Amino acid sequence: MDQRTLLANVIRERFGENVPLPPSLRGLDALAVLAMRGATRAFRVEPVDPGLIGLLCAVALSSPTKSDLQQRDIVIVRDPAQRARLDALMPTQDWLPEAPALLVFCGNNRRQRQIHAWRGKAFANDHLDAFFNAAVDAAIALSAFVSAAALAGLGTCPLSAIRNRAAQVSDALKLPQHVFPVAGLAVGWPIQPATVSHRLPLAATVHTDAFDETKIEEQVSVYDRRRAASQPYAEQRFAADFGLCPDYGWSEDKARQYAKPERADFGAFIRAKGFSLE
Ligand SMILES: Cc1cc2nc3c(=O)[nH]c(=O)nc-3n(C[C@H](O)[C@H](O)[C@H](O)COP(=O)(O)O)c2cc1C
Repeated sequence: MDQRTLLANVIRERFGENVPLPPSLRGLDALAVLAMRGATRAFRVEPVDPGLIGLLCAVALSSPTKSDLQQRDIVIVRDPAQRARLDALMPTQDWLPEAPALLVFCGNNRRQRQIHAWRGKAFANDHLDAFFNAAVDAAIALSAFVSAAALAGLGTCPLSAIRNRAAQVSDALKLPQHVFPVAGLAVGWPIQPATVSHRLPLAATVHTDAFDETKIEEQVSVYDRRRAASQPYAEQRFAADFGLCPDYGWSEDKARQYAKPERADFGAFIRAKGFSLE
C-alpha cells in the first residue's frame, strides 16, 4: 500500500469518515506515522539509548513556547532507585515498571520569577495566567516529544497519574516552588503497533468561523455506537456503583469516570507551590 492510501485509510479508521487529501502533499510518511500513533503500554525489554532520549528532548523543546518564555522542563528518570520510587507513587499503572524509560514534563514559572529578581523588576503577573502558561508550555513539549518519539519508532504513554500524589512526586524530584509536574511519559520500543483508537467525528471537534454544537448529542451518540461496535470497552467502569449498561459506549464511560472525584487536591498542591490561581 502506498503512503497516501495508508494515510487516508488510517484517518478513516480513526474518525469513521473520509478526509480528502490534497493532491500534492509532502511529508506523507511522517503524517501517516503521526495519524497512526497510539498509547503504548507494552514494551520490548530492550533499553532506549540515553542519547536518543536526549535528542528527543531537544526536538521536543524546539516546539513553540509562549512569548519565548520557555516555561517547561523535562526530568529524565535514570537512577533505578529513583525510578522505583516514582513507579511506586503510581500504583494504578501496573504496566509502568516494565517501561524502559520514564520522563516527567514539568511546568516551570520559577525561572521567570528568578529573572525578575536578577533584573530588579517586580513580577506583575502573579495570577492564574502564570500557572496556565507554564502548564500549556509543558503540554506542548510533551506532545512534541510524543510525536518525535513516534517518528523514531518509539512508543509512549503520557501519565497524568504522576499528579495523583503530586506532593510526594514533587518531593522525590526535588521540584522547587513554582515548578510542578504536568505529566509523566513512559517510553520504549513497542511490542506491537498501537491501536488506532477511534475519535469523535471531526464535525464535532473542528469548527469553522464559530463554535457550533447544534448536532453534538447526535454526534456523540453515533460515536458511542461506532466504538461499542468496533472497539468495545473490555469492562464497564464502576459497575458495582452504576450497574451494567446495555449500550455502554464512550459517553457512559466518561460520565462514570468523572462521577467520582479525581485529584481534587491538585489545586491545593499548586497553591502550595506558590501560585495564585485568581
Ligand atoms: C495528558 C495525558 C495524560 C494521560 N495519563 C494517562 C495515565 O495516567 N495512564 C494511562 O494509562 N494513560 C494515560 N494517558 C493516555 C490516554 O489514556 C490515551 O492517550 C487515550 O486513551 C487515547 O488513546 P490513544 O492515545 O491510544 O489514542 C494520558 C494521555 C494524556 C494526553
